[in-house]
Amino acid sequence: MKFFIDTANLDQIREAQDLGILDGVTTNPSLMAKEGISGKDAINAHYKTICDIVDGDISAEVLSTTYEEMIAEGEELAKIHENIVVKIPMIKDGVKALKYFSDKGIKTNCTLIFSAGQALLAAKAGANYVSPFLGRLDDISVDGLNLIEEIRMIFDNYDYDCEILAASIRSPMHIINCAKIGADVITSPLASILNLLNHPLTDKGLAQFVADAEKMK
Ligand code: E4P
Repeated sequence: MKFFIDTANLDQIREAQDLGILDGVTTNPSLMAKEGISGKDAINAHYKTICDIVDGDISAEVLSTTYEEMIAEGEELAKIHENIVVKIPMIKDGVKALKYFSDKGIKTNCTLIFSAGQALLAAKAGANYVSPFLGRLDDISVDGLNLIEEIRMIFDNYDYDCEILAASIRSPMHIINCAKIGADVITSPLASILNLLNHPLTDKGLAQFVADAEKMK
């Protein structure tokens, strides 16, 4: 399973990269705005910096919602770096844009996926990734993992060359459950990735080993 970090914060991206387990980065307009990035030049420069830190797929989301505008925006984003993946919302014009980019060989990630039908449409249109939003479904008492399971079954039935990128991750258990179900990728905040490290028996055991190591010196 690939690990992407879900942030536009450069320090957190560097920290995850330094850990040696990072395969890519996802951003969205909310995450970019949180870092105070605005204006085309600053946005493009920020994506270029992320691409220079991480050698993997970097999702950059279009800000527009009409077909023509998404095409223009996506083509410009794709020029920033070969690892840019154009992130397109799951709307009618978005599906058309996915097909356009697929035909042109530009990688895409279809975002805001909340149903198996949406994922199927995106895969048919040639999306490289679909992003089901696990946490946001759990937030409204709908089982987000169940959706990922359904998408896994559908994609396997037809051998779709589209990766399931589990998004809106809220906890280390989300990551573990996604791995059990067979999501291809998880994109997570840094905290949930780091929380995978923790176990009290590891801390206890290490304290004992360190104490005994002192005796051996
Ligand atoms: C990433 O691709 C998604 O935009 C992101 O995971 C959404 O996460 P949130 O539900 O925590 O905002």
